[in-house]
Amino acid sequence: MDFVEKIKTELSNVYSKQELGSVVSLIFNKLAGINLTEILLLDNKKLSEKVMQKIESAVERLKLNEPIQYVLGQTEFYGLPFITDNRALIPRPETEELVDLILCNCGLDEKPVEILDIGTGSGCIAVTLAQKLKNAQVSAFDISLDALNLAHENAELNNVFVKFYHQNILKITDFEQKFDVIVSNPPYVTEEEKEFIKPNVLDFEPHIALFVSNSEPLIFYDYISKFAKNHLKPNGKLYFEINQNFGKNIVKLLKINGFKNVELKKDISGKDRFVLGNI
Ligand SMILES: C[S@@+](CC[C@H](N)C(=O)[O-])C[C@H]1O[C@@H](n2cnc3c(N)ncnc32)[C@H](O)[C@@H]1O
Repeated sequence: MDFVEKIKTELSNVYSKQELGSVVSLIFNKLAGINLTEILLLDNKKLSEKVMQKIESAVERLKLNEPIQYVLGQTEFYGLPFITDNRALIPRPETEELVDLILCNCGLDEKPVEILDIGTGSGCIAVTLAQKLKNAQVSAFDISLDALNLAHENAELNNVFVKFYHQNILKITDFEQKFDVIVSNPPYVTEEEKEFIKPNVLDFEPHIALFVSNSEPLIFYDYISKFAKNHLKPNGKLYFEINQNFGKNIVKLLKINGFKNVELKKDISGKDRFVLGNI
């Protein structure tokens, strides 16, 4: 059997027919440096033994449900390259929409703005904002040193400077700086929802990035909005990505914590996904 067909057969239990084509194309593109046409015309002998081994070991990992972004070690977010591995959550398309909401906040690209990303993970939000807003000074917090190291590598990869802080947002004291924008995509999956999470997420992505307790599902929204109330400049804006099941509760919480113009927005699939507010 030809090599490409063999790979497709091996992965047919992990991916649907529709997904298989793009997965195979990604694998060959990243690991063998060849595009779709070249794959179709592929003469097995043209691939070196070393490249075939690399592809085979990637396939073995994919067969165990490891996400392709970890196996290939990279992904794209908002058109920029990001290193991805199990030190942090894989950037999601919804989060690209969150970045878009911030970038559409007109005027941000003209003035020198200070931005803080809380729970930066791979650094996808902070690094993209620093790359797109040339006059912005971007800072980012995370409790995970692993995530901060990865985010730092992603800032270097994209040639931007982000000031990273090892901070636990639930315990922070003595932080003086004020910001024009505070953004966060905090952990928001409840323990109760764990049983609906697919094995490729549950078994590979860091649980500290995903889960909150059933008893305090909004803990991050409460602490972060209280922190933001004291660390946003006049007219500063807070942006959250949220669990679709808690939209109305988070709107209420932000109002109680002193925010004005609180808005609940849907993502591209029509789910409640973002909450914004001003001080
Ligand atoms: C849902 S992930 C978001 C990662 C990234 N911002 C993104 O959008 O892909 C949440 C992040 O919050 C971090 N985190 C969890 N608890 C935290 C805490 N108490 N203080 C600061 N960061 C925390 C996790 O390490 C993780 O990187």
